[in-house]
Amino acid sequence: MKSSEEYKRLSVSEFTKAAKNYENDKAGIYKMCRKDYPPILAEIRNKPFETLLDAGCGTAPMISLLSEEYPNAHFTGLDLTPEMIKQAKAKNLQNTEFVVGDCENMPFEDDSFDIVINSQSFHHYPDPQAFINEVARVLKPGGMLVLRDNTGSKALMWFVNHIELPLANLAGHGDVAARTIDEVRGYCKTAGLTIEKIEQQKGFRLHLVARKNPV
Ligand SMILES: C[S@@+](CC[C@H](N)C(=O)[O-])C[C@H]1O[C@@H](n2cnc3c(N)ncnc32)[C@H](O)[C@@H]1O
Repeated sequence: MKSSEEYKRLSVSEFTKAAKNYENDKAGIYKMCRKDYPPILAEIRNKPFETLLDAGCGTAPMISLLSEEYPNAHFTGLDLTPEMIKQAKAKNLQNTEFVVGDCENMPFEDDSFDIVINSQSFHHYPDPQAFINEVARVLKPGGMLVLRDNTGSKALMWFVNHIELPLANLAGHGDVAARTIDEVRGYCKTAGLTIEKIEQQKGFRLHLVARKNPV
């Protein structure tokens, strides 16, 4: 088990190397992240919003798609890896702001966003509860979280977290742990978020939609 700082150092190192080619043909294993974008877009469609945060945005592939579809909304991207944020800023997208920072300790005011999205970043967080608490804090009352990551049975997650990910760490990757659906349910309950949908979908994907209660 590594310290929180060691995992985050590994993540920054991994994604500093990945940033330049993240959205092109040389993206390698990160191409699989693209499968998570359509189900996130599907959850957002027909839900009115003014402000959206992509937490762990990477080079901002999701904000690129969204800012075209919703030209009147304001988009914020947050990522721990400065090189990812540099690539995102270089796109010069309208109505967007990109910030280097930690999803476990977000540099935003309370009640700032109508929607928070999080795609294939959650398994890099040493303290997933801190992240979900931050989402509950920065969402406006009635706001929505859409999260996609990897999940599976307790036995499979044991194998992934005790065998596969430590090997990935040795290879320089910053993955911490994939969480079971019951664990994610618990984080939301503790943070006071109401779960609208939580499923294991095709390809061992976790699909979560949760809401901050309206006042
Ligand atoms: C696999 S990429 C996913 C990027 C993007 N969301 C996508 O779906 O293509 C994971 C991203 O999470 C970021 N990340 C990891 N730990 C983080 C943390 N604690 N706070 C913010 N971003 C983090 C990494 O820097 C990386 O850009």
